Amino acid sequence: MKLSTKMVDTINKQINEEFYSAYLYLSMASYLESQKYKGAAKWMEVQYQEEIGHAMKFYAYVNGRGEHVVLKEIKEPQKEWKSLLDVFDGAYKHEQYITKLINGIADLAMEEKDHATLALLQWFINEQVEEEANTSEIADKLKLIGNTKNGLYMIDRELGQRGMTTPTSEGE
Ligand code: FEO
Repeated sequence: MKLSTKMVDTINKQINEEFYSAYLYLSMASYLESQKYKGAAKWMEVQYQEEIGHAMKFYAYVNGRGEHVVLKEIKEPQKEWKSLLDVFDGAYKHEQYITKLINGIADLAMEEKDHATLALLQWFINEQVEEEANTSEIADKLKLIGNTKNGLYMIDRELGQRGMTTPTSEGE
């Protein structure tokens, strides 16, 4: 069964959203580094890599089904935030938005009885549970810490422990 034109268009749009996510997290990484949050900046760099992995997973799927990936312009991400908490709150909100989009593609796949795409989306649905949990847990911790210098120092150090993933290892 060939992918429907609507499904190819929808996944192409999602590829753009995943690249935009990468862009947004890289912008957050640079902001955090400029604010001397080196650990949090590293966390965001890992997140950037993960998003490239997500985009490439959809890319490989579209190409693997004999269709053409059409790359569109990536919009400019936000570049300033108010605090470390503001960054992670923003990341959490963004992940909630991405979850909505993934669920929307799953709805379309169900409508079209497109089981192959649904199987791919199952991976993304699980991934989104993790993405939301990771960002909201960090935002919650930051709310507890408030503006205490010690607390911010400790959490920055902890965030810096996140291991690097590569686009090819992501999603395997
Ligand atoms: Fe690709 Fe963070 O969702």
